[in-house]
Amino acid sequence: MLSPPTGYFCTFAHPLKDLAGFFVTNVMDILAKIDRSRLPKHVAIIMDGNGRWAKERGEDRVYGHYEGVVSVRDIVNACGEIGIQYLTLYAFSAENWNRPKEEVNALMELLVNTIRKEADELKKNNVRMHVIGDLASLPEVCQKEMQEAISMTAANTGLNLVLALSYSSRLEITEAAKKLAEKVAKGEMKAEEINDKVFHQHLHTAAFPDPELMIRTSGEHRISNFLLYQLAYAELYFTNVNWPDFRKNNLYEALLDYQQRERRFGKTSEQIQTNTPEHV
Ligand code: FPP
Repeated sequence: MLSPPTGYFCTFAHPLKDLAGFFVTNVMDILAKIDRSRLPKHVAIIMDGNGRWAKERGEDRVYGHYEGVVSVRDIVNACGEIGIQYLTLYAFSAENWNRPKEEVNALMELLVNTIRKEADELKKNNVRMHVIGDLASLPEVCQKEMQEAISMTAANTGLNLVLALSYSSRLEITEAAKKLAEKVAKGEMKAEEINDKVFHQHLHTAAFPDPELMIRTSGEHRISNFLLYQLAYAELYFTNVNWPDFRKNNLYEALLDYQQRERRFGKTSEQIQTNTPEHV
């Protein structure tokens, strides 16, 4: 069930039926304000605050991750419906291996069960799944489930859902540098041929455009080793909402906020507004 944003819940003391009606109208209102021709192609999300959300309710942290999956489903559906082409979710960082063993095991089990349960739905909804990160470090059953979902959805042409699993951006960048150095050492390419485009082709995200919008939930203002190279020009959006409470309406608010920003890429505001090419 959709959980209404706290602000609306507190100010309106209507019976539940009216509240649900108000909530749906409100979501539709925000949605109507979004300019579909100016959507970011790629949205990346750091899904944070699951543990705190659960603790606030006197529950184990794992309960927050379970509820976080409901948000994942809602946001994947919302992105597919509105026409976002790429959605990258930071589901498990390389650093997350350092969490208590029970939590890591629960997260792996949750990933396996969720993908197993949702793969048919992803296929039906024209969602194509991808994984970035150190897939080989995941338990075998997890690797198998991910590979299966990737193959099952490979022909889909709608939303590209990219799961970052056991992912470390610094490691990804270091590996890319290593691969390039090896190619130069073997004489396969010259050092002067290495540029931004070539470097990008050696990252896990080689097949995807860079995200234009990065959202982090739960009130933290960090990038936490997530897509450090790819986020160079991304708009950053931080919200206090914890991930298990982050639903369609919150995504629409982030998209609206994004559309109100001026993306200058180092140019001046005047150049952007008059569409003046660079170096004039
Ligand atoms: C961060 O919250 C969240 C995670 C480390 C895990 C996120 C994973 C899911 C929501 C499940 C994803 C499943 C699929 C299939 C994509 P936290 O635990 O760091 O929260 P805290 O900062 O409040 O402790």
